[in-house]
Amino acid sequence: MKPSVVLYKPLPDDLLQRLETHFSVTQVPDLSPETVHQHAHVFEQARGLLGASETVGAELLEKMPALQATSTISVGYDNFDVNALNARKVLLMHTPTALTETVADTLMALILSSARRVVEVAERVKQGEWTKGIGPDWFGTDVHHKTIGIVGMGRIGLALAQRAHFGFGMPVLYNARRQHQEAEERFSARRCDLDTLLQEADFVCSILPLTEETRHLFGAEQFTKMKPSAIFINAGRGPVVDEPALINALKNGEIHAAGLDVFEQEPLPVSSELLTLPNVVALPHIGSATHETRYAMAATAVDNLVAALNGNVEKNCVNPQVR
Ligand code: GLV
Repeated sequence: MKPSVVLYKPLPDDLLQRLETHFSVTQVPDLSPETVHQHAHVFEQARGLLGASETVGAELLEKMPALQATSTISVGYDNFDVNALNARKVLLMHTPTALTETVADTLMALILSSARRVVEVAERVKQGEWTKGIGPDWFGTDVHHKTIGIVGMGRIGLALAQRAHFGFGMPVLYNARRQHQEAEERFSARRCDLDTLLQEADFVCSILPLTEETRHLFGAEQFTKMKPSAIFINAGRGPVVDEPALINALKNGEIHAAGLDVFEQEPLPVSSELLTLPNVVALPHIGSATHETRYAMAATAVDNLVAALNGNVEKNCVNPQVR
Protein backbone atom coordinates (compact mmCIF):
# COMPACT_ATOMS: atom_id res chain seq x y z
CA MET A 1 0.00 0.00 0.00
CA LYS A 2 1.22 3.48 -0.87
CA PRO A 3 2.02 5.78 2.05
CA SER A 4 -0.67 8.33 2.70
CA VAL A 5 -0.10 12.06 2.17
CA VAL A 6 -2.25 15.10 2.95
CA LEU A 7 -2.13 17.85 0.31
CA TYR A 8 -3.39 21.25 1.46
CA LYS A 9 -2.67 23.35 -1.63
CA PRO A 10 -3.86 22.60 -5.17
CA LEU A 11 -1.16 21.34 -7.56
CA PRO A 12 -1.02 21.48 -11.37
CA ASP A 13 -2.50 18.24 -12.78
CA ASP A 14 0.81 16.71 -13.89
CA LEU A 15 2.39 17.34 -10.50
CA LEU A 16 -0.59 15.85 -8.71
CA GLN A 17 -0.17 12.78 -10.91
CA ARG A 18 3.52 12.65 -10.06
CA LEU A 19 2.64 12.77 -6.35
CA GLU A 20 0.00 10.09 -6.81
CA THR A 21 2.45 7.66 -8.38
CA HIS A 22 4.22 7.57 -5.02
CA PHE A 23 1.49 8.20 -2.48
CA SER A 24 -2.16 7.85 -1.71
CA VAL A 25 -3.09 11.55 -1.70
CA THR A 26 -5.97 13.23 0.12
CA GLN A 27 -6.58 16.86 -0.82
CA VAL A 28 -7.96 19.20 1.82
CA PRO A 29 -8.72 22.92 1.50
CA ASP A 30 -6.63 24.01 4.50
CA LEU A 31 -5.26 22.91 7.87
CA SER A 32 -7.94 24.52 10.04
CA PRO A 33 -9.13 22.60 13.14
CA GLU A 34 -12.46 22.01 11.34
CA THR A 35 -10.73 20.42 8.34
CA VAL A 36 -8.50 18.30 10.55
CA HIS A 37 -11.51 17.19 12.56
CA GLN A 38 -13.49 16.38 9.44
CA HIS A 39 -10.66 14.25 8.00
CA ALA A 40 -9.38 12.98 11.35
CA HIS A 41 -8.63 9.48 10.10
CA VAL A 42 -6.63 10.70 7.10
CA PHE A 43 -4.56 13.07 9.26
CA GLU A 44 -3.96 10.28 11.75
CA GLN A 45 -2.61 7.95 9.06
CA ALA A 46 -0.64 10.48 6.99
CA ARG A 47 3.11 10.06 6.67
CA GLY A 48 3.54 13.17 4.56
CA LEU A 49 2.14 16.68 4.42
CA LEU A 50 2.46 19.02 1.43
CA GLY A 51 1.27 22.59 0.90
CA ALA A 52 1.95 26.23 1.71
CA SER A 53 0.96 29.24 3.79
CA GLU A 54 -0.64 27.46 6.76
CA THR A 55 0.51 27.18 10.33
CA VAL A 56 2.01 23.83 11.27
CA GLY A 57 2.48 23.63 15.02
CA ALA A 58 2.40 21.23 17.95
CA GLU A 59 -1.38 21.09 17.97
CA LEU A 60 -1.56 19.81 14.39
CA LEU A 61 1.31 17.39 14.97
CA GLU A 62 -0.66 15.80 17.80
CA LYS A 63 -3.34 14.90 15.28
CA MET A 64 -0.73 13.40 12.93
CA PRO A 65 1.09 10.70 14.95
CA ALA A 66 2.39 8.91 11.82
CA LEU A 67 3.85 12.03 10.18
CA GLN A 68 7.45 11.65 8.98
CA ALA A 69 7.94 14.56 6.60
CA THR A 70 6.36 17.85 5.67
CA SER A 71 7.16 19.74 2.48
CA THR A 72 6.39 23.43 2.00
CA ILE A 73 6.01 25.15 -1.37
CA SER A 74 8.05 28.11 -0.15
CA VAL A 75 11.53 29.05 0.91
CA GLY A 76 10.32 30.60 4.19
CA TYR A 77 9.23 28.29 6.98
CA ASP A 78 8.43 30.69 9.82
CA ASN A 79 4.90 29.25 9.87
CA PHE A 80 6.32 25.91 11.05
CA ASP A 81 7.15 25.17 14.67
CA VAL A 82 10.56 23.69 13.91
CA ASN A 83 11.20 22.76 17.56
CA ALA A 84 7.96 20.77 17.64
CA LEU A 85 8.92 19.06 14.35
CA ASN A 86 12.37 18.25 15.69
CA ALA A 87 10.94 16.85 18.92
CA ARG A 88 8.76 14.54 16.85
CA LYS A 89 11.59 13.82 14.34
CA VAL A 90 9.49 15.10 11.44
CA LEU A 91 11.55 16.30 8.46
CA LEU A 92 10.86 19.75 7.01
CA MET A 93 11.60 20.31 3.33
CA HIS A 94 11.49 23.67 1.51
CA THR A 95 12.34 25.27 -1.87
CA PRO A 96 15.37 27.50 -1.28
CA THR A 97 16.62 27.76 -4.87
CA ALA A 98 13.61 27.71 -7.22
CA LEU A 99 12.49 31.30 -6.59
CA THR A 100 15.74 33.25 -6.22
CA GLU A 101 15.78 35.10 -9.56
CA THR A 102 12.05 35.82 -9.55
CA VAL A 103 12.08 37.36 -6.08
CA ALA A 104 15.10 39.45 -7.06
CA ASP A 105 13.05 40.70 -10.04
CA THR A 106 10.22 41.61 -7.64
CA LEU A 107 12.67 43.58 -5.52
CA MET A 108 13.83 45.51 -8.57
CA ALA A 109 10.18 46.14 -9.48
CA LEU A 110 9.58 47.59 -5.99
CA ILE A 111 12.71 49.73 -6.20
CA LEU A 112 11.83 51.10 -9.64
CA SER A 113 8.14 51.60 -8.99
CA SER A 114 8.60 53.37 -5.67
CA ALA A 115 11.45 55.62 -6.90
CA ARG A 116 9.75 56.52 -10.20
CA ARG A 117 6.24 56.54 -8.67
CA VAL A 118 5.11 54.15 -11.40
CA VAL A 119 1.88 53.01 -9.73
CA GLU A 120 0.87 56.48 -8.61
CA VAL A 121 1.42 58.24 -11.94
CA ALA A 122 -0.11 55.41 -14.00
CA GLU A 123 -3.21 55.79 -11.84
CA ARG A 124 -3.24 59.54 -12.51
CA VAL A 125 -3.12 58.86 -16.25
CA LYS A 126 -6.12 56.52 -15.88
CA GLN A 127 -7.94 59.21 -13.91
CA GLY A 128 -7.55 61.57 -16.91
CA GLU A 129 -5.06 63.89 -15.19
CA TRP A 130 -2.50 63.84 -18.04
CA THR A 131 -3.87 66.81 -19.89
CA LYS A 132 -0.65 68.75 -20.57
CA GLY A 133 3.13 68.29 -20.41
CA ILE A 134 4.03 66.93 -16.99
CA GLY A 135 5.81 69.01 -14.35
CA PRO A 136 7.80 68.27 -11.20
CA ASP A 137 4.75 67.01 -9.34
CA TRP A 138 4.99 63.90 -11.56
CA PHE A 139 8.76 63.43 -11.18
CA GLY A 140 10.42 60.62 -9.33
CA THR A 141 13.98 60.04 -8.18
CA ASP A 142 16.78 58.18 -9.95
CA VAL A 143 17.62 54.58 -9.25
CA HIS A 144 20.79 54.15 -11.34
CA HIS A 145 24.06 54.83 -9.52
CA LYS A 146 22.32 55.29 -6.17
CA THR A 147 23.57 53.21 -3.24
CA ILE A 148 21.66 50.03 -2.45
CA GLY A 149 21.81 48.55 1.05
CA ILE A 150 20.86 44.88 1.23
CA VAL A 151 19.92 43.51 4.63
CA GLY A 152 20.17 39.73 4.42
CA MET A 153 22.73 38.55 1.88
CA GLY A 154 21.46 35.08 0.99
CA ARG A 155 20.70 33.74 -2.48
CA ILE A 156 18.10 36.42 -3.19
CA GLY A 157 20.32 39.20 -1.83
CA LEU A 158 23.06 38.04 -4.16
CA ALA A 159 20.72 38.03 -7.18
CA LEU A 160 19.57 41.54 -6.25
CA ALA A 161 23.18 42.73 -5.88
CA GLN A 162 23.91 41.36 -9.36
CA ARG A 163 21.02 43.33 -10.88
CA ALA A 164 21.90 46.49 -8.98
CA HIS A 165 25.62 46.33 -9.78
CA PHE A 166 25.57 45.31 -13.46
CA GLY A 167 22.20 46.66 -14.49
CA PHE A 168 22.07 49.95 -12.63
CA GLY A 169 25.68 50.77 -11.68
CA MET A 170 24.72 50.92 -8.01
CA PRO A 171 27.29 50.70 -5.22
CA VAL A 172 26.21 47.76 -3.01
CA LEU A 173 26.32 47.74 0.79
CA TYR A 174 25.19 44.70 2.72
CA ASN A 175 24.54 43.65 6.26
CA ALA A 176 24.74 39.96 7.07
CA ARG A 177 25.95 37.72 9.84
CA ARG A 178 28.72 36.36 7.66
CA GLN A 179 31.01 37.84 5.07
CA HIS A 180 29.84 37.03 1.54
CA GLN A 181 32.93 36.63 -0.55
CA GLU A 182 31.11 36.11 -3.83
CA ALA A 183 29.11 39.34 -3.39
CA GLU A 184 32.30 41.22 -2.60
CA GLU A 185 34.31 39.78 -5.49
CA ARG A 186 31.64 39.86 -8.22
CA PHE A 187 29.63 42.94 -7.27
CA SER A 188 32.13 44.95 -5.18
CA ALA A 189 29.67 44.71 -2.29
CA ARG A 190 30.84 46.23 1.00
CA ARG A 191 29.80 44.60 4.26
CA CYS A 192 28.88 47.04 7.01
CA ASP A 193 27.00 47.19 10.29
CA LEU A 194 23.30 47.92 10.13
CA ASP A 195 23.60 51.52 11.36
CA THR A 196 26.14 52.39 8.66
CA LEU A 197 23.95 50.80 6.00
CA LEU A 198 20.88 52.71 7.23
CA GLN A 199 22.81 55.98 7.17
CA GLU A 200 24.42 55.51 3.76
CA ALA A 201 21.94 53.61 1.58
CA ASP A 202 19.49 55.32 -0.78
CA PHE A 203 17.53 52.07 -0.98
CA VAL A 204 17.34 49.97 2.19
CA CYS A 205 16.21 46.52 1.04
CA SER A 206 15.18 43.88 3.56
CA ILE A 207 15.15 40.26 2.44
CA LEU A 208 15.32 38.73 5.87
CA PRO A 209 13.59 35.59 7.05
CA LEU A 210 11.43 35.96 10.15
CA THR A 211 13.15 34.71 13.29
CA GLU A 212 13.17 35.83 16.92
CA GLU A 213 16.30 37.84 16.02
CA THR A 214 14.77 39.67 13.05
CA ARG A 215 11.26 40.37 14.39
CA HIS A 216 10.76 44.18 14.42
CA LEU A 217 14.37 44.76 13.44
CA PHE A 218 13.16 47.86 11.57
CA GLY A 219 11.52 50.19 14.08
CA ALA A 220 11.36 53.91 14.85
CA GLU A 221 15.07 54.05 15.73
CA GLN A 222 16.12 52.49 12.42
CA PHE A 223 13.86 54.69 10.28
CA THR A 224 15.26 57.79 12.03
CA LYS A 225 18.76 56.75 11.02
CA MET A 226 17.87 56.54 7.32
CA LYS A 227 18.25 59.50 4.97
CA PRO A 228 15.08 61.57 4.45
CA SER A 229 15.48 60.67 0.77
CA ALA A 230 15.77 56.93 1.50
CA ILE A 231 13.37 54.38 0.10
CA PHE A 232 12.62 51.33 2.22
CA ILE A 233 11.94 48.03 0.45
CA ASN A 234 10.71 44.83 2.09
CA ALA A 235 10.23 41.55 0.26
CA GLY A 236 11.31 39.19 3.05
CA ARG A 237 8.77 38.90 5.84
CA GLY A 238 6.38 41.56 7.12
CA PRO A 239 6.90 41.21 10.88
CA VAL A 240 10.57 42.16 10.43
CA VAL A 241 9.13 45.69 10.35
CA ASP A 242 7.29 47.53 13.10
CA GLU A 243 4.54 48.71 10.74
CA PRO A 244 3.16 51.62 12.85
CA ALA A 245 6.75 52.95 13.09
CA LEU A 246 7.12 52.69 9.30
CA ILE A 247 3.82 54.53 8.78
CA ASN A 248 5.00 57.33 11.10
CA ALA A 249 8.34 57.58 9.30
CA LEU A 250 6.57 57.83 5.93
CA LYS A 251 4.07 60.39 7.19
CA ASN A 252 6.66 62.54 8.97
CA GLY A 253 9.08 62.60 6.06
CA GLU A 254 11.76 60.69 7.96
CA ILE A 255 12.02 58.53 4.84
CA HIS A 256 10.88 59.26 1.32
CA ALA A 257 8.88 56.19 0.28
CA ALA A 258 8.41 52.44 0.71
CA GLY A 259 7.94 49.48 -1.60
CA LEU A 260 6.41 46.54 0.25
CA ASP A 261 5.56 43.01 -0.81
CA VAL A 262 5.05 41.65 2.71
CA PHE A 263 3.15 42.88 5.76
CA GLU A 264 2.67 42.17 9.44
CA GLN A 265 -0.78 40.85 8.63
CA GLU A 266 -1.52 39.20 5.28
CA PRO A 267 -3.70 39.78 3.41
CA LEU A 268 -3.08 43.43 4.31
CA PRO A 269 -6.32 44.72 5.89
CA VAL A 270 -8.03 47.25 3.59
CA SER A 271 -8.19 49.56 6.63
CA SER A 272 -4.36 49.71 6.82
CA GLU A 273 -3.07 53.27 6.87
CA LEU A 274 -0.32 52.16 4.50
CA LEU A 275 -2.92 52.12 1.74
CA THR A 276 -3.70 55.80 2.26
CA LEU A 277 -0.11 56.92 1.69
CA PRO A 278 0.79 57.98 -1.87
CA ASN A 279 4.45 57.20 -1.24
CA VAL A 280 3.79 53.48 -0.64
CA VAL A 281 3.76 50.75 -3.28
CA ALA A 282 1.97 47.78 -1.71
CA LEU A 283 1.98 44.40 -3.48
CA PRO A 284 0.05 41.26 -2.43
CA HIS A 285 3.11 39.10 -1.58
CA ILE A 286 3.95 38.36 -5.23
CA GLY A 287 7.68 37.75 -4.63
CA SER A 288 7.77 34.38 -6.38
CA ALA A 289 4.38 34.62 -8.09
CA THR A 290 5.08 33.89 -11.75
CA HIS A 291 3.66 30.87 -13.58
CA GLU A 292 7.13 29.48 -14.21
CA THR A 293 8.47 29.89 -10.72
CA ARG A 294 5.37 28.75 -8.84
CA TYR A 295 5.37 25.63 -11.03
CA ALA A 296 9.06 25.02 -10.33
CA MET A 297 8.48 25.47 -6.59
CA ALA A 298 5.57 23.04 -6.57
CA ALA A 299 7.61 20.48 -8.56
CA THR A 300 10.49 20.85 -6.13
CA ALA A 301 8.14 20.43 -3.16
CA VAL A 302 6.71 17.21 -4.65
CA ASP A 303 10.20 15.83 -5.31
CA ASN A 304 11.28 16.92 -1.83
CA LEU A 305 8.49 14.92 -0.20
CA VAL A 306 9.31 11.83 -2.25
CA ALA A 307 13.00 12.21 -1.31
CA ALA A 308 12.30 12.81 2.39
CA LEU A 309 9.98 9.81 2.73
CA ASN A 310 12.70 7.73 1.08
CA GLY A 311 15.18 8.96 3.65
CA ASN A 312 17.04 11.25 1.25
CA VAL A 313 17.64 14.60 2.93
CA GLU A 314 20.78 15.82 1.19
CA LYS A 315 18.95 18.67 -0.53
CA ASN A 316 16.37 21.23 0.62
CA CYS A 317 15.98 19.88 4.15
CA VAL A 318 15.73 22.32 7.06
CA ASN A 319 16.36 19.74 9.80
CA PRO A 320 18.30 16.76 8.34
CA GLN A 321 19.69 16.03 11.81
CA VAL A 322 16.40 14.52 12.97
CA ARG A 323 16.67 11.59 10.59
C1 GLV B 1 7.71 33.28 -0.08
O1 GLV B 1 7.51 34.20 0.66
C2 GLV B 1 8.40 32.08 0.30
O2 GLV B 1 8.78 31.92 1.46
O3 GLV B 1 8.58 31.22 -0.58
